[in-house]
Order: sequence, then structure tokens, then C-alpha cells
Amino acid sequence: MDIEEFLKLADSVVFSETEKHLDDLQKAVLRGVWDGQKYSEIAEECYRTEAYVRNLASELWKMFSGILGENIRKSNIRSSLERSQSAYFLNCKNDSFNISNVHICSNNPSSIIPKERSPSPPKQQQIDLGTAPDIKKICDRTHQLKTLQNWIIQENCRLVSIIGLSGIGKTTLTRYLIQTLQPEFEAIIWRSFYTSPSLEITLKNLLLFLSNQSLTELPVSLEEQLSLLIEHLRTKRCLIILDDVQTLLNQGTLAGQYHPDSKNYSLLFKLIAETSHQSCLILNSWELPQDIVTLTDDNAPIRCLKLSGLGSAATEILHEKRLKDEEQWHLLIETYQGNPLWLKIVANMIQDIFRGRVAEFLKYDNLYLGEELTEILKQHLERLSKIEKTVITTLSQEKQPLGIAELIEISKLPATDVFKAIQSLERRCLIETEEQQQQTYFKVSPIIQQYLILNCQ
Ligand SMILES: Nc1ncnc2c1ncn2[C@@H]1O[C@H](COP(=O)(O)OP(=O)(O)O)[C@@H](O)[C@H]1O
Ligand SMILES: [Mg+2]
Repeated sequence: MDIEEFLKLADSVVFSETEKHLDDLQKAVLRGVWDGQKYSEIAEECYRTEAYVRNLASELWKMFSGILGENIRKSNIRSSLERSQSAYFLNCKNDSFNISNVHICSNNPSSIIPKERSPSPPKQQQIDLGTAPDIKKICDRTHQLKTLQNWIIQENCRLVSIIGLSGIGKTTLTRYLIQTLQPEFEAIIWRSFYTSPSLEITLKNLLLFLSNQSLTELPVSLEEQLSLLIEHLRTKRCLIILDDVQTLLNQGTLAGQYHPDSKNYSLLFKLIAETSHQSCLILNSWELPQDIVTLTDDNAPIRCLKLSGLGSAATEILHEKRLKDEEQWHLLIETYQGNPLWLKIVANMIQDIFRGRVAEFLKYDNLYLGEELTEILKQHLERLSKIEKTVITTLSQEKQPLGIAELIEISKLPATDVFKAIQSLERRCLIETEEQQQQTYFKVSPIIQQYLILNCQ
């Protein structure tokens, strides 16, 4: 077997099981492994960090382990696939195993079985989902999916942001969304920004992908690179997803200010938002860059979806975790704001300690944070500016929601500082509002209040 046959075999094995082809980066990792390269060498060739490639490879081995039914690692992927090829060849009585026609059969029903599948899409598609998670069954997000599909397909929005607290489901929703949007686009690329890559690396990445890796030399100047990118976005319909964009933004200042090292991303985002083309950029973030907030408008092709909790749909998560006392579940969902990650964390704890008995847990401490949730909240609250910290701490110390006048009085901050802090905290989804008799009142959710009480004395 040579490398091309190896890649075809790997691809067909994956396709048979998932109906998805390997993307360029996954193939690059397999190619590197075939060549005996180290992860650091593969990373260098793919213009990625070593950690990124390691992560991607680990996902790949997990996927192959599930498909081939054995523990797959870098060291045995090649031999396992070769072995599986001969096993399937021997087991196939009627159908022959044919790599180039992507045809595999198996007598093991849980293994590689060619599935009924729709004919391949009419257009030649380029897809690189990077480290996007696998698609899985999710609780109801029909309304949000419809809104996003409408913005992107009917209204041809050029820039769509999805913002919300960590764990609320931005990545999951977007992964689901692109599955439904796939036929509409000629090229789809997903990049996760958890390593806050420089604009130079991101642009190089996008340009190489959009040119089908045929770009031999990048234009020298940033302006030329940006205009080449726009050229691609004009000539084909591309979908670019940038996940975890908050890593480009500063800590300790008001929401949405770029980190000094990432300031030039503003050029990329504004250009994509304001120039005419047929593509779409999706940004997922805890907060939006300030310039995108300014551009976002119902009358422009630039929109933002503030993702909130799952509401009663979250009961599915509690079912999956096999919790008991269903009549009390609404209390958990309300307290943990329907945040799927937070609910999973608390459900695990209730399962571990109370064998799933929610009523018993609620007798003790229905504002359990634990280390995991504390760490998540810490990351959000560490980002705040001084005036935001003062305002949110003031809110957390009050039993009732506070109006602006009371906030100014209790926090002892100048009115303009309170305005700025409130606006910024709202943009970070960290405070909630209530309207009473033509007045707006502000409050923090019980979980954030609990965190602040325990950690900010
Ligand atoms: N609609 C949903 N239904 C069920 N689980 C969900 C849903 N959305 C997210 N999750 C789960 O919640 C966790 C956090 O989701 P994720 O998309 O990573 O959040 P975010 O990107 O906002 O931080 C994951 O374990 C994910 O599987
Ligand atoms: Mg995410």
C-alpha cells in the first residue's frame, strides 16, 4: 500500500461510518504519520502549533478507535488500517474491497458497513473543520437555528456573531448549523482561536485553504493578503467559522477591546463585514469586539445572536444523566440558567454523591459550584475592568435587583462609570435586567452571585 492508497482507505473507512470525508488537515496528519514525522514537524508544515496538531491527532485516533474497535494511536494507525483492509477483503464474499472506488464491506455489523447515502454533492466542496467537535444529538435549538439559517441563506449576511457565556452551547450550535448549511457553500473552514493565533497565521491559513493549497507564495503586505482573501470570498461562496474569538480580546478593560497583539484583526473583521462578497464569517465569542458591536445592525448584513440557556429543553440532559425526582428538575435548570455545561457538571455531582436524587441535593445546597464551575466563572470574572468588578460585586451583595440611581449611590462610582460598567457587563452576558414601572433594574444570576460571595470578599 502506498501513501495515496493509505489515505483513500482511511477516508473511505471514515466516510462509511460517518458519511463525512477526512478534511485536508486530518489528511496532512495521516500523511505525516505515514512519513514517520513528529507532531512538531507536521505542525510546521501545516502552519499550526504543535498543541493544535496533537489535539487534532488525538481526536483522529479516538475516531478511528471507535470505528475499528481497537485502541488506535499514532504508532499503530498504519498497521491497523492495513490489517483491517485484509480482514475486510477476506470477509467479503460478494463485494470486493476496492480502495480506489471507495468500497468497503464487512461482516461485522458494528464495524465498517457501507451505508445508504445520498449521491455526492454536486459541487466540488472544500471542507476543513479543523478542531470542530463531532456532531451529536442536541437539545432543542430550533428557533436559534432558524434565525441563523435565515440570516445566512435568505439575507446573505456577511458576518454573524454568536455570543454567550462559556458552556452555553455556541460551538455545539455552530457545528450543527454548518451541517445544515453545508450544501450552500463551496468552501467551509473552521478555526478555533483558543491559542489566540496572530492575524498573519490566520490569513496564511485561510489563503492556503481557499486556494486549495495551490498558493506557492503569499503576498508580502497585509493589504495584499486581505484583498486576495476578499477576492476568494467574492469568487466562491465560503463559510468561515472562527470559534473562541474572545481570546483576541483584552482582560481588565471594558468588554470588546482588542488585546494589543490582536488589534489588526479589526481590519479583517471590518473588511469582511463591509465589503461586498458572497461569503459569510461566523464569530463565536464570550463578548464581541467593539467595532463589530458598532457595525451590527438589523438593516445591515451583520448580525449578532446572544445565546441564552436551553430552558425546559435541558431536561433531556438530566434524563441522559439519569437523575431522579423529575418534578424538581426545573429548579436545577433555573438555577444553572439552562447552561448545558453547568447542568452537566452539577448533574454529575448529584449522580456521584446522591445517586441521582435531586430532591436530596436540593435540601443541602442548591448553589453548588464545585471546582469545575468555579474555574469557568473565574475565567469570565477575571476579564472585568475595575468599575465592572465594583458594579457586579455591589449587585451580588443585594437581595433585590437595583436601579441605576441605587447602583450609583451604593457603589459610590460616578454615574458615567456605572453606565459604562452596566453596558459592558450586559455585553458579556453577566448581568440580567428586569423592567418594573418604567424603570430598569439590574441583577446577577444566583450562580454568579454565589461565586462572587465566595470569592470576592
Ligand atoms: N443544545 C445542546 N444540547 C445538549 N448539549 C449541549 C447543547 N449545547 C451544548 N451542549 C453541551 O454543553 C457543553 C458545552 O457546549 P459548547 O458548545 O462547547 O459551549 P460553548 O461553545 O458556548 O462554550 C458541551 O458538552 C456540549 O455537548
Ligand atoms: Mg466553544
